Amino acid sequence: MNGKVCVVVLGFLAVAAGAQVPAQQRPWMNASLSPDARADLVLNQMTRDEAFILIDGYFGMPYQAANRPLLTAEIKAQMPMSAGLIPGIPRLGIPALTESDASLGVANGGNMRPGDTATALPSSLLTAATFNPEQAFAGGSMIAREARAKGYNVLLAGGTNLAREPRGGRTFEYAGEDPLLAGIMVGESIRGIQSQAVLSTAKHFALNDQETARTVMSANISDADARESDLLAFEIALERGDPGAIMCSYNRVNNNYACEDHYLLTEILKGDWGYRGFVMSDWGAVHSTVAAALNGLDQESSNGSDRLDYFGPPLKEAVAKGQVPETRLRNMVHRILRSMFAKGLFDRPVVKGPIDVDADLAVAQTAAEEGIVLLKNDKAVLPLSMAKRQKIAVIGAHADLGVPSGGGSSQVLGIGHSKELEVPTGGGTRVIAGETWTLPRDTVVLHASAPLTEIRRMAPQAKVTYAAGDDIAAAVALAKKSDLAIVFVHQHMREGVDVIDLSLPGNQDELIAAVAAANPHTIVVLETGGPVTMPWLDKVDGVVEAWYSGNRGGAAIARILFGEVNPSGRLPVTFPITESQLPHPIITGQRPDGRIIGTNGSPTVYDVIYNEGSKVGYRWFEDQKLPPLFPFGYGLSYTSFAYEGLKVTGGNTLAFGFDVRNTGTRAGKTVAQIYVKPPYGETRLVGFSKVDLAPGEVKHVTLTADPRLLAMFDGDANIWRVTDGEYQVRLGGSATDKAATASAHVNAGTIRP
Ligand code: BGC
Repeated sequence: MNGKVCVVVLGFLAVAAGAQVPAQQRPWMNASLSPDARADLVLNQMTRDEAFILIDGYFGMPYQAANRPLLTAEIKAQMPMSAGLIPGIPRLGIPALTESDASLGVANGGNMRPGDTATALPSSLLTAATFNPEQAFAGGSMIAREARAKGYNVLLAGGTNLAREPRGGRTFEYAGEDPLLAGIMVGESIRGIQSQAVLSTAKHFALNDQETARTVMSANISDADARESDLLAFEIALERGDPGAIMCSYNRVNNNYACEDHYLLTEILKGDWGYRGFVMSDWGAVHSTVAAALNGLDQESSNGSDRLDYFGPPLKEAVAKGQVPETRLRNMVHRILRSMFAKGLFDRPVVKGPIDVDADLAVAQTAAEEGIVLLKNDKAVLPLSMAKRQKIAVIGAHADLGVPSGGGSSQVLGIGHSKELEVPTGGGTRVIAGETWTLPRDTVVLHASAPLTEIRRMAPQAKVTYAAGDDIAAAVALAKKSDLAIVFVHQHMREGVDVIDLSLPGNQDELIAAVAAANPHTIVVLETGGPVTMPWLDKVDGVVEAWYSGNRGGAAIARILFGEVNPSGRLPVTFPITESQLPHPIITGQRPDGRIIGTNGSPTVYDVIYNEGSKVGYRWFEDQKLPPLFPFGYGLSYTSFAYEGLKVTGGNTLAFGFDVRNTGTRAGKTVAQIYVKPPYGETRLVGFSKVDLAPGEVKHVTLTADPRLLAMFDGDANIWRVTDGEYQVRLGGSATDKAATASAHVNAGTIRP
């Protein structure tokens, strides 16, 4: 064929069932052809019924909802016992799409594959806190290697939603509040996954920034504001990672369901961004047949989760009646096949086998060590001495058993999992505005890396004693007779439920205050999904934000506490002093017990007006002149750094050059951050670089701003506009640090989206 292929676009084969096409007669298996050409070659051999197989997916377990297609023995045999299945078409050699959730590892929520454990990465928010794209790539490729070994070729990963609402129940599964950081980190994780010939999604498109109301709420925001915030994160993630699929979300956006929103799916995603993969629905997020098909949805993921099997018989009928053109049906299937070819699903089929546990746990530990953030270190209380004969009190948060993880579809049963690691959490009451509310109960899954064990291992000379922390008097008694106290505290987050506020649940604030009053050397280790408030901050010497630290979390925490690792994580979210500083001091319309009030009392119509617009996180705090408790980008080290010699070149964008110096006596890494304030509009992070420096060492860093980060989006003209004028630049170690400042002129310009 000389590398050239003429693809004649035909209709579907006009037979009820085609004959088996022998392997040697499948021209689409020629890997030198383009994915588009290969997709068309196979598409032209498909019957219409076969086309429907690829667009109408199943829940991944033998679950038969009423009025849904029969689970034939053939389909059951392919059930991956995970999130989803698109059956294969053996006649044409099309593999099944076997889908697993995978934000933090190969998920096994509810133990649906009894005893099947996998390496649990730390939370995605922790990975974002590394500010190191290489960590995101390494984590993604580790998950994909394990996925292949377990028989999965599609990973429902790539959570890109911004932490616009820090109480959002999936804040731990996302990559923080900034579009550049989230876009880069998620894009790299997707790239890592797909480097192993496993197809990844990016999800949940779009503005699925809070959970309790996700299926009934409408996220209302102007086009320009969305483009400069949440959508920009997706745009960057797509450019970096080129995911094979995009998962549209449960919520409505400006009153249209995301999975049938023409503007989002067809105009922006497939139009402006030129996306060539396919759009799959979230599980239960489809609400129509014709509108969804015409407006851009390509695949119904789980027909058992939706109210109807929309892309089954109803779509067949709509195509037969001409309500959905056959060309659109072909386009849906083409997009799916194209991604399968482009991501290697035909050429490198998955093969089940063992996983390399030690190598994979090392990936999880390295990420944790780089994403844990040191927030406070008064009197240089840290690092602790390994050699001292001291009495250490370890208190709270099941530190004797393991480290917590977040709940929901991303739940991994980590290596070493046992029933003992599933412990109750939540419950109790909270008084808000004079009313007493009952809080939800849940189970938290711990990962088998107990901080207590690791601290003992690290400090063999010390006497390390544990108190559970629920009995404050017992914890205080232990703290009193100890040389220092390390208090572990936990905020639980899970998919589907937002946390009602940013306080540590239960008696934990009280516990810290009481222990700190009993022992002047108190260190707090936060194990939280996102930011929390710290009314006790002045009373303690040290605070370490360990997030959900994954399968080797205890070891990573201990190595940081004892200085085996110099902390280098930076906050990917702003920590407010109180919720009253947030754009929405309480989650709009939602009752403190997590139930929905809804707009005008309706439980199904619920408008969230994101009137902060694109001013998410630090942008909001700066705009409102609010001092945060800890700013975005913040984090301490056991050494110190200087940022020097900032030079900024203007023109059509901004370019930066500067030196970073380690001014202390230990080797360490810092994250140099450049923020720019345009003449109009709010300050944005436009570049960052993680720099590893020996004591006294200096490194030169250069960065260039993506001009979209300098621009405002003009929704009427559908274009980015850069204003002519002087741009204020600051370089430093956080969103509020002004270690070096400069300004430069940028010319007016436009950028097509
Ligand atoms: C979640 C998705 C997940 C899907 C399949 C949904 O409830 O929102 O993130 O991929 O379930 O488990």
